[in-house]
Amino acid sequence: MSLSVGPTIKVYWQHAKRYPWLMTFLLGVLVVSNVFDLVPALLSKRFFDTFALGLTGEALTTALLGTLSLMVGVGVIGWVLSRFSTVTNNWLQPKIIVDLEETAFGHLLNHSYRFFSDNFAGSLVKKIHRFGRAFENLMDQLTWKLISILVAVVGTIIIFYFRSPLFAGILCIWAVLFVIANIFVAKWKLKYDLVRAELDTEASGVLADAVGNAVTIQQFVGKKFEEAKFAEVNNRWRKMATFTWNLGGVNDAVQAGFMIVLNGTAMYIAIHLYVLGQITLGDFALIQTALITLFMRLWDFGRVIRDIYEGFADAKEMVDVLEMPYELVDKKGAKKLAVKKGEIEFKKVSFAYNDSRPILRDMTLEIAAREKVAFIGPSGAGKSTIIKLLMRFFEVSKGSISIDGQDISKVTQESLRTLVSLVPQDSLLFHRTIMENIRYGRREATDKEVIAASKKAHCHEFISELALGYNTKVGERGVKLSGGERQRVAIARAILKNAPILVLDEATSSLDSESESLIQDALHELMKSKTVIVIAHRLSTIMQMDRIVVIEKGAVVDAGTHDELLEREGTYKKLWSIQAGGFLP
Ligand SMILES: Nc1ncnc2c1ncn2[C@@H]1O[C@H](COP(=O)(O)OP(=O)(O)O)[C@@H](O)[C@H]1O
Ligand SMILES: [Mg+2]
Repeated sequence: MSLSVGPTIKVYWQHAKRYPWLMTFLLGVLVVSNVFDLVPALLSKRFFDTFALGLTGEALTTALLGTLSLMVGVGVIGWVLSRFSTVTNNWLQPKIIVDLEETAFGHLLNHSYRFFSDNFAGSLVKKIHRFGRAFENLMDQLTWKLISILVAVVGTIIIFYFRSPLFAGILCIWAVLFVIANIFVAKWKLKYDLVRAELDTEASGVLADAVGNAVTIQQFVGKKFEEAKFAEVNNRWRKMATFTWNLGGVNDAVQAGFMIVLNGTAMYIAIHLYVLGQITLGDFALIQTALITLFMRLWDFGRVIRDIYEGFADAKEMVDVLEMPYELVDKKGAKKLAVKKGEIEFKKVSFAYNDSRPILRDMTLEIAAREKVAFIGPSGAGKSTIIKLLMRFFEVSKGSISIDGQDISKVTQESLRTLVSLVPQDSLLFHRTIMENIRYGRREATDKEVIAASKKAHCHEFISELALGYNTKVGERGVKLSGGERQRVAIARAILKNAPILVLDEATSSLDSESESLIQDALHELMKSKTVIVIAHRLSTIMQMDRIVVIEKGAVVDAGTHDELLEREGTYKKLWSIQAGGFLP
């Protein structure tokens, strides 16, 4: 396992460079203010050298006060500069974080159906946030730590060089060894840091899954089971956290050792040079002040490296998602789908979710313009899969699907999904108001149009009875509505969308007979002058259709009107007679 930081730096840089002037200003001010931090060491040399001059009385006071006012002046300038950098950073950083999270969000939503069924919503949410936070962390390290460390090391080497090249040489070698040792330890630790980040994601996935299914857990008395599951992953995280933090402790220890060695060596040499008359008393002050400043900067260098690696590790998860190619993309120069008549043709369509198990096999079917077709067949036959392929949530593995002669894989996904209206088997709603949920069908629709659609779908009745009416929020995924109510809201949404091709995937299955017969009229209205595919079990719905298509094991095994199919003694007849007089009550 290795951490490739290139892609992360690239993405971050692309976003940071949108603000070239501010970035330059911020980095410039930081460098200058850090250079100012080195001046006190020089001034303290001057301070002590003044003592050595043997001045007394007024002359001594004037000389010392002169140096002191320089010290204060430098301090004030440094203080002003660091205010500038803080204010700039406070403005710039959140802007870039927001940009990054928006990029990640936009990119994520373009991923395909399969991506979202393979990835936990909770983990994805966390990844997006971490992606932004990791930038914050990395930029903080750069602005508040790395720059000051770099300036302190280079500056101190230069200052030492002018006192004695030997000092400068020793500090150079020491700095190189120090950095190498730190990076070595951090790298060693990194692989465990990555494991810990993964465990962290795994734990939030487990949490999100359980919290999302909290009601199911209660229903099946699964609290203990879920707790054990959470404890198990948490336990692995805990062990890894302790281990990696201990490795961090090793690093701190190594560093402290380095500092003791440098301080001792420098002072040892200084004593000899002083005795030889090569350096002054003030130089002791210079060396001590410079080294203290340097050590202060380097004190948490190990933590800085760790935070940087951690930042990159956190970011990587999202960067991986950003780099993952989309499963489905529009063909280059794809045209918009144009629907004049609404003919649909499935030509020898084969499809499998996983290679090991074919779902559709050479399925062929032509649906005429404005024809109303019912798909029936046993559960798991592949009916919903056909619909997913028609919406191009997945790509067919063989064959083709076309609408009015245009292959759907060659038109834009947006135009296809604008012209096909789907009421799925399990309509999920946004945790927003009912008004907003219905309006999702056509977001520019007026309140009046929304209410008209909801009257047609017979949801106006129950919505009017709610205290907040259309402003009622429906709960996450729509849990505050009954299955039937949710389906009617979804139907209202489809009525509002009014696309020329309409697909209802067991859209009325959660309705009781009464509300079903109520909305039959609305559906009848809705289906007029549209090509319609209905997947249904209810005879009342099926018999209204122009044609019934029997799907079994991923292929069309029969098709015809109700009477024709009954005569043929096929699957339809069998299904029909099992339920004696209808598919469902
Ligand atoms: N996202 C998926 N990944 C893998 N297998 C799937 C997926 N969705 C459905 N299946 C499988 O494909 C088969 C057909 O499912 P589906 O088309 O939903 O049947 P139905 O005719 O009941 O609507 C089922 O066996 C189901 O388990
Ligand atoms: Mg289905």
